[in-house]
Order: sequence, then C-alpha cells, then structure tokens
Amino acid sequence: MLSDLRAIVGDDHVFDGRGSSHVDDWTGRFRGHTDVVVRPGSTDEVREVLRVVRAHGRVVVAQGGNTGLVGGGVPLSGEVVMSLTRLNHVGVPDVAARQIEVGAGATVEAVQQAAAAVGLRYPVDFGSRGSATIGGTIATNAGGVNVLRYGSTRAQVVGLEAVLADGSIVSTMAGLMKDNTGYDLRGLMCGSEGTLGIITKAVLRLVPAHEHRETVMVGCASVDDALDVVTMVCGASESIDAAELMTRRGVDLVAEVVGAHRPFEAEWYLLIESSTSREADGTLARLLERRDPVAVADSPGRREALWRLRDEHTSSIATLGVPLKYDVTVPLRSMSDFVSDARTAVSAFDPEAEVIVFGHAADGNLHVNVIGANLEDHRGFDAAVLGAVSRFGGSISAEHGIGVAKREWLHLSRSADEIAVMRAIKRALDPDGVLNPNVLLPADGSN
Ligand code: MLT
Ligand code: ZN
Repeated sequence: MLSDLRAIVGDDHVFDGRGSSHVDDWTGRFRGHTDVVVRPGSTDEVREVLRVVRAHGRVVVAQGGNTGLVGGGVPLSGEVVMSLTRLNHVGVPDVAARQIEVGAGATVEAVQQAAAAVGLRYPVDFGSRGSATIGGTIATNAGGVNVLRYGSTRAQVVGLEAVLADGSIVSTMAGLMKDNTGYDLRGLMCGSEGTLGIITKAVLRLVPAHEHRETVMVGCASVDDALDVVTMVCGASESIDAAELMTRRGVDLVAEVVGAHRPFEAEWYLLIESSTSREADGTLARLLERRDPVAVADSPGRREALWRLRDEHTSSIATLGVPLKYDVTVPLRSMSDFVSDARTAVSAFDPEAEVIVFGHAADGNLHVNVIGANLEDHRGFDAAVLGAVSRFGGSISAEHGIGVAKREWLHLSRSADEIAVMRAIKRALDPDGVLNPNVLLPADGSN
C-alpha cells in the first residue's frame, strides 16, 4: 500500500504517523495511532488514494487542521489519516458575486485575509482560525462567534466538491445562488464529519466588511440578566454580530494565563459586538450606557484586549488539564436553569470536578467544560451534562459535531427514525464503511 500511495502523491507525502501530531487531538483527550499519513495534493489524488486504501482493505479518517474537539478527525482505531492540508489554495474573491473559491486545506484565517484584502469578510470566526481548515469546518458545520448574524458554516457554502467512497465526485462549484435540481448533496456534506465524502474544495459566501464596529463588554449579575441585555440589544439593533457569555472564573483564568487585563469584575461577562457600514453612531454604547459595569472599546487595541479575554478561553482552560468538553444548545429561556442543573448534576457525580461555562449567548449555545474529571469516568459526566440538555429539549452538539465523544448519546437529540435515515444514507454512499467509520452514528446499531 505504501508504495502505491507514494506513486500517487510522492515520497514526501506518505509517512508513518506514529508519534506525529496527526494521531492525537488538540485537547489530548483522544489519542490514536496510525502507520500511514498520506497527503494528496489534488482532487484526483484524493480519489486515487481512496482507491488504493480500499484495495488494501483499510479505512480512512480525513483530517484538516486537527482542531476538532470531539475526536472525529484522529485515527483512534488505526485508520489511514488522509491529511488535506496541501489543498490550501485560496482563490481571488469574486467581488461582484461576493464569493471565494478555496481548497479544503486553506485555513479560516487565510480565507478571512483574502476577503479583507478586497473589502469583504468571511464571517465564520473562532479562536482556532489560524489552524482550522475550511474542509474541517464544513465537515463539522462549525459555528463560532458570528452565527447570530451570519449563520454557521453551512450557510456560507455556496459550492462544494467532494470525493465519495467509490471514487465518484460530487461537484457544485458554480456558486449558483439558486439551484433547485433535486437533493441537496452539498448540504448533505455539511456536518457529515467525513463519513459521506472527502471535501476537497468549496465556494464560500462573503459578506461586506463593515468599517464601523462597536465592541462593548457588560457585567451581568446572572445568566437571565445577560439574556435580558441580549434581547434588548438584538431587539434595538439589526447590526449585532456577536454576544458572547463568560463567567468570572473563566475571565479570571484567562487573565491569569495570558496576562490579560480585566476591565472590571463581574459574576458574568457579556461581550457584544456590532458592525455597520455607516459612521459609528454609538448605538451599542448608547443602548448600554445605563449598564454598570460596562467597558466600551474606544480603539482597535482596546477591542483586541476585550476579545482576547474571550478568544483565549479554550487554551486557558486546557492549562488546567484535559477537559471534558460539552458543546450544547438549549432554548434561550432555559439557559439559566440548564447552567444550574448541569452544575448540580456534575457535582453530584463528582464534587471535586470543576465546571467552566462560556458560549454564544444569543444562540443558546453553551460550552460546558468539566475540569479535573477522571477521563475514564466520562460516561457519568456525559450523563450529568447531556441528560440536563435533553431534559430542557436541547441539542447535544451545537457546533462541534458528534465525533466519537457523543456518538453513544445521539439518541438524546435524534429520534430512532432519524438515526435510521442517517444509517441508510451512510450505507448508500459508503456501503463498505471506508470513510471515518467510527464516528457520528452509534456503534452498536441499536439506536
Ligand atoms: C469556542 O466558542 O471558543 C469554541 O467552540 C471552542 C470551545 O468550545 O472550546
Ligand atoms: Zn463555540
């Protein structure tokens, strides 16, 4: 197999994965192993690599920047790793269409920079922008801080090319805004976590880069208080991009780990940002002027400092040990009760474990990080947090995906009929289970 793969991609792009950064996930929770990492340089090479891998009875995990948080992109069962990072082409944006063609291996940040160079913006944004790749963000339907205004990755994908398990290629790269010609194969690939096809390229929607931005941090007494602020600003302004919720503990930790400055102390922090094409009129600052405490970013440096307190949450939490990460959505009205129920359930299971919550307040999307947990005992913590999600009618994955971390809990968010449909789709597109066979769908077939 190795010599066949080398003949396709070249000697430099096939190697033994043992001890490489391709086998473990970013958090250190999911540690895998593989004897083969292969890096194709084109869609044709992806197809040829798949043919060889199949012929040798092996299976594949597609991998981008390896920034996933649910173990969906690492070879936990010794799968061949297909790294797409060489497909990092970033095209010249089409300004009239507000679109850009990119390879699956381009980073989110590279796409953001290409868009900014022509006065446009790629609105998907999150802390790992410098490493996360477009293919991975499509495969997981990644969210981030601007979903409130622009939607998650799925909403940006106006064209896509993917290689299926049998080597056939689905390609809708014309970037057509309207195309009602049957099943939405492009949409099917979004959030499919490498189980239905290997994404090689995409055409992404860009939005205007509004010049005038307002960034304000507000101190809140409770989750409900923060939610009232979000409801008020979103009701009064159509220009809100982000509304990010953090706790005192999270902000203190970031301040300590990265040496950042806290503008004030509060139980809960809400970071709100708006952007418009008109001269900044202080709308956000005016809407929030009666709040106390409040910090208004009056310079790009100040804005960056406020965002640093949010962006550095994930890496700062990781300094406390390997966290169990739960990425959930609950109905907005239940956010406050969910936070207290989840905390109570976690401490009932293990009084020593610590919970740090942060997230995207306007989406009802909370990141519940459990620290100090014995990772072997994760089922008890899963049951505590995901059980609470289910009681409030929420989703066990808002934007990170299912991966291996939550596959056995899929029934909490999807009905048996829905899971059966997903299995049927998987069987139709990948009957031999060659593509990432160990993620997303429950293992035992019972759900
Ligand atoms: C975030 O919003 O920062 C990400 O989803 C990452 C995380 O949950 O740690
Ligand atoms: Zn997030």
